[in-house]
Amino acid sequence: MSDTIFVETSTQDNYKIHFGDDLSEELGRFINTYSSDTAFVLADAFVLEHHRDHFEPVLKQQFSNLHVFEIPQGEQAKSMKIYQAALDHVLKNGVERQTPLFAIGGGVTGDLAGFVAATALRGIPLIHIPTTLLSMVDSSIGGKTGINHTTGKNLIGSFYQPEAVFADVHYLQTLPKKEWVNGLSEVLKYGYIHSPEILQEAKQLIDKNVFTDGAAWLSLIKKSARIKVEVVSEDVLESGKRAILNFGHTFGHVLEREGNYEMFSHGEAVFAGMVAALHASNYLGVNIELSNLMQFKSLYEFNLKGIEKSPRELVEMMKFDKKVKDGQLRLILLKKEGIPYIYNVADEDFIEKAWQHTLNIFS
Ligand SMILES: NC(=O)c1ccc[n+]([C@@H]2O[C@H](COP(=O)([O-])OP(=O)(O)OC[C@H]3O[C@@H](n4cnc5c(N)ncnc54)[C@H](O)[C@@H]3O)[C@@H](O)[C@H]2O)c1
Repeated sequence: MSDTIFVETSTQDNYKIHFGDDLSEELGRFINTYSSDTAFVLADAFVLEHHRDHFEPVLKQQFSNLHVFEIPQGEQAKSMKIYQAALDHVLKNGVERQTPLFAIGGGVTGDLAGFVAATALRGIPLIHIPTTLLSMVDSSIGGKTGINHTTGKNLIGSFYQPEAVFADVHYLQTLPKKEWVNGLSEVLKYGYIHSPEILQEAKQLIDKNVFTDGAAWLSLIKKSARIKVEVVSEDVLESGKRAILNFGHTFGHVLEREGNYEMFSHGEAVFAGMVAALHASNYLGVNIELSNLMQFKSLYEFNLKGIEKSPRELVEMMKFDKKVKDGQLRLILLKKEGIPYIYNVADEDFIEKAWQHTLNIFS
C-alpha cells in the first residue's frame, strides 16, 4: 500500500512524499526519471548494515555507478569533519549538476546529507529516505539542512528542498523502542498544535500492543507529516507561522542544553517541555487536561532530578534560545488542544511556576 502527499514550495520545485510499507516499486519508478548513471547514497551506518539489501538493488537498476558513503551513528556526525568527508566523496566521484543524492537514515543523516546536496556544485538533486519515526514526521519535511558548530546545534546550514521523500515503514522494523518514543513526542506535538485526535490514536497503538509496528503507525505518520507540510508550506523560510512547531521546544531546548545534550534525548526534553507549556497555558486562564499527555509518561524513562538550576534560572536560560528575538521571550501556548498561539511574555512568574510543576512531576 502506498500513498502520497504533494508538497508545494514557493522557493524550489514542488515534490511528493510517498508513504507505505515497502516502497521499492515506487522508488524504482521515480528514479527512472533521472538520466544520470551515477548516484550517491549517504546512509546511516546502522541502516547500511541492516537495510542495504532493501535499497541498493533498486537503485542499482538505474544507476550503474552507485557510490555509497557511510554516515557514523549519532549527533556527532553533524560535524564539519564528516561534512567535509562526505563532500569529498561526492566531489571526487564524478558528481554533476544532475547527479542525485539519496539521504537514507534518521534526522542526523538527513540534515547532513541534505546540506551536502545543497552545497555540492551549488545544489544537486536530493531524495530523502527517512528511516526513523522522527525523520518521517519531522526532519525530512520542510527543507532545513545543516550541521552543528562547536558553538551550537544546527548553526551552519541552508533551506534546501528534496525532489522526493520516501517514508517507507519497512525500515522501522529495526527501530529501537527509545527511538520510537523520541519520535512520539513530535507526533503528540502535532496533536496539540493541530489535531487533538492524534493523542488518542497514539494511545490506541499502545493499548493494541502495536507501538513498535511500523505498518500500524502508517496513518499517524501520514497525518503528522501532513500537518508539518501544511505549516511549513505557509512559511517556507520560517518567518512566522512555522513557530507553532516549537510547542514545548523552548522549554525542551533548555533541558537539552542543561543536560549537555547527553542527559536527555530531544524527544524526552520536548515531552517535559510540553508538560511545562501546558501548565503555562493553564496559568493564563484556560483549562487543558494534562492527563491526555501524562498517559504517555510511562513510556519515557527519564527524570529531571539531575537539573541543578532553579526554575528562575531555567526561565533565564530560555532567553538564550536561538529563536528568541531581541531578548523577548515568545512561547507557543494553547487556547485549547489543537489551537496554538504565540505569546509574548511580559510577566515571567507563571513560567517559573510552570517549570516548578514540571520539575516536580519528573522528580
Ligand atoms: N531538518 C529539520 O527540520 C529537523 C527537525 C527535527 C530534527 N532534526 C534533526 O534530526 C536529528 C535527530 O533525528 P533522529 O531522531 O532521526 O536521530 P538519528 O538520525 O541520530 O537516528 C537515531 C538513531 O537511530 C538509528 N537508526 C536510524 N534508522 C534506524 C532504523 N531504521 N532502525 C534502527 N536504528 C535506526 C541511528 O543510527 C541513530 O542511532 C537531530 O540532529 C535534529 O537536529 C532536524
